[in-house]
Amino acid sequence: MKLAILSRNSKLYSTRRLVEAARELGHSVRVLDPLRCYLRIASDGFSLHYKGRPIAGYHAVIPRIGASVTRYGTAVLRQFELMGTSTPNSSDAILRARDKLRCHQLLAAAGIGMPTTVFGDNPDDTHDLLSMLGPPPHVIKLNEGTQGAGVMLTEKLSASRGVIEALRGLYANFLVQEFVAEAKGADLRCFVVGGKVVAAMKRQAPKGDFRSNLHRGGTAKGVKPTAAEQDVAIRAARVLGLGIAGVDLIRSARGPLVLEVNASPGLEGIEEATGADVAGEIVRYVAVRQRRAEQQRIAREK
Ligand SMILES: Nc1ncnc2c1ncn2[C@@H]1O[C@H](COP(=O)(O)OP(=O)(O)OP(=O)(O)O)[C@@H](O)[C@H]1O
Ligand SMILES: [Mg+2]
Repeated sequence: MKLAILSRNSKLYSTRRLVEAARELGHSVRVLDPLRCYLRIASDGFSLHYKGRPIAGYHAVIPRIGASVTRYGTAVLRQFELMGTSTPNSSDAILRARDKLRCHQLLAAAGIGMPTTVFGDNPDDTHDLLSMLGPPPHVIKLNEGTQGAGVMLTEKLSASRGVIEALRGLYANFLVQEFVAEAKGADLRCFVVGGKVVAAMKRQAPKGDFRSNLHRGGTAKGVKPTAAEQDVAIRAARVLGLGIAGVDLIRSARGPLVLEVNASPGLEGIEEATGADVAGEIVRYVAVRQRRAEQQRIAREK
């Protein structure tokens, strides 16, 4: 298979590991910086150039599109899709996952457990909005936040109101959730590839924090998720249409709750914590998918 990896930086751990796994499995592979791909869009045909040369003939592409280049990166990926290249995560699926509110709505509609979440625009509605959520503690999350920065815990209603007022004053987008105390500062990253959990790690917050992000000093170790946890992770990836996803869960009294679904989950933390060959799992899955798509195309043309 001729494989492209869309990634801004070929030196990143995840990108390097995917290249290594692809070569080991006998595929030809090239890393393309999505910001150096440019497109001609016309009804007589698409074309895609890279650093002065046309690119075509890739059987499959693995998108590793960071949050800061979501728009441009998914447009480039869409062009690959329109030119018949197979991808485990489509441009539409990545866009669905990147929009936190939309993601929560789709998961809830599918009956997948999550912390109850409220969201509103007008300051006049804050009082009723918080009463729709229930009593504090509350977790307030900035939509633009990552790695635990921008996630706040408020213990009192007056604190929730104060933080919300301050964020509105800064024109920030945020959502408010029930605080799941039973999670005890731990979350579970389930790495889903092709409808299976291929690796999972438990991250534990440092003492005195409720956020388990490794960037905030959390620690990780490999674990085997329960059948219910695997089922929720697999369903969350399926609802969003992602072949590859990092699904973050917390353990609650009412079962596993999804916090987030990551469409470009990093490989370093999970491979280190579990020793699993996640890059190999990804490349094997992409190759199987690509072969299936090719067979379907041949059958259609007959
Ligand atoms: N509702 C909640 N109840 C209890 N703990 C929570 C809740 N929401 C988040 N946490 C804890 O805080 C951590 C950070 O929250 P979250 O993952 O939502 O934000 P983030 O990591 O900053 O954003 P992203 O995952 O999108 O990069 C979680 O890993 C979890 O440990
Ligand atoms: Mg997180």
